[in-house]
Amino acid sequence: MRPEDRSTRSAVTLPPMLRSTGLMGNMADFLNDPVQMFRTGYEQHGPVFGIRLAHMKGCVVVGADRQQRFYDEIDRRLSVAKLYKFVIPMFGSVALAQPDVERRIAQVRLLHRAFAENRMKAHLAVMTQEADLAMGELGERGGADLWELCERFAIRVSASALLGPEVRQDIDRLVPMLDDLARGMEFVLPPWLPLPRFIRRDSARRRLRTWIQPMLDERRAHPRDPRDFLQVLVDGDREDRNGGADLVGITLLTLFTGYITTAASMAWLISDVLDQPKLHERLQHEVRRDPSTAARSSLVANTILESIRKNPVMSHYARIVEEPIVVDDYTVPKGWQLIVVPSLAHQEATHFPNPEAFDPDRFHTAGGLDRPPVFLGFSAGQYRCPGRVFGLAELACLLVEMLRRFEVRYHRTGRSPSMDRGVIRPPDRALLVEPVPRT
Ligand code: HEM
Repeated sequence: MRPEDRSTRSAVTLPPMLRSTGLMGNMADFLNDPVQMFRTGYEQHGPVFGIRLAHMKGCVVVGADRQQRFYDEIDRRLSVAKLYKFVIPMFGSVALAQPDVERRIAQVRLLHRAFAENRMKAHLAVMTQEADLAMGELGERGGADLWELCERFAIRVSASALLGPEVRQDIDRLVPMLDDLARGMEFVLPPWLPLPRFIRRDSARRRLRTWIQPMLDERRAHPRDPRDFLQVLVDGDREDRNGGADLVGITLLTLFTGYITTAASMAWLISDVLDQPKLHERLQHEVRRDPSTAARSSLVANTILESIRKNPVMSHYARIVEEPIVVDDYTVPKGWQLIVVPSLAHQEATHFPNPEAFDPDRFHTAGGLDRPPVFLGFSAGQYRCPGRVFGLAELACLLVEMLRRFEVRYHRTGRSPSMDRGVIRPPDRALLVEPVPRT
């Protein structure tokens, strides 16, 4: 414990609170527009301020040093598992929700291993094939709803690449079940209440688990060589290196987390490109000049990072305070949450000059994005996203294939971003496409 954290005073100074009224505190503003709610707190009080969501109080910290502190304190004075209790009704006590620290770390390492093994080449083949199919469907209809397109592509890729090509025929019927899981996510109400959306969540979880179990049994009976994602999980079980994980739960968590975050990031990426006519033109030129290398070009990679910087899909990352923590002049009491907010971190002019501009070229010179933690699109530290390379590749594949084949325009059909599935996604849009004229 640092000396400055040992509270010797009897009275502590709490962070200044974002104004709120009523029992639910800032909840209505949070659900309506979390980015704006956090921005208001920052504008009113600066880089350390408190919020209240119903009975939960939290302290938001902004700035590289404070964000570093947040990540340094995880598994010391900050609990990740107590926060992640809300995912147990969806996936069980796996990964970040596993209360035992050693088992939790073993499970998270298992996930990193399952992604790290040299399978990206095979994954890229699935992504390219799915992008081709998705664009074929788009062309036949002359357009599509942006979210539906991204959601279908992301789930088809995650399922085929991680669970095996043989699940391809089942994938489309999974989307409504995963949607039911997403809509059953709950941070405030007890998860066992007999609400229709909780009943649908539980039924979806049971059906998805029944669908996944035989795939793991099959890997146990007939190991795959080369090893795929599921085989790494199953072998970890055999080698006793998986922290006693419920492998069906871990698989479901990965399928769900991978598809929902990627689909939302993809919808933002396409919206952002369509909103920047000059950048759209530069990308079209790059992609049509040499489609075979475009997905690996720095312009495409930097556009994706810039889109995630401007529109991170996670509203915030929170951890539960287990021992009081002093931040600047304030004490954050036990039981509160400590919170970092990517949309505020990504607006810091020290690290991202002229932050309001959409400028992919800023990433040409931005080295060392992980330390100090200033780019938080995938979080940071040992619990950062294990699927980020996979997700970035999916975004590149779809964008390149779309720009290669079509002139794309859109109708804006929604007004504000939505949070109905636990991630921030852009206003609804209908895409209109026409094939690129042959020259
Ligand atoms: C652009 C796309 C993606 C974004 C923005 C993203 C973002 C994130 C973030 C921010 C976290 C950490 C959450 C926290 O610490 O509270 C996370 C965790 C995770 N992500 Fe990703 N992710 C993406 C793609 C993927 C993909 C494609 C997969 C798998 C196919 C994946 C699988 C996971 C898993 C398994 C976790 C751990 C979750 C847990 O243990 O509860 N992600 N992701």
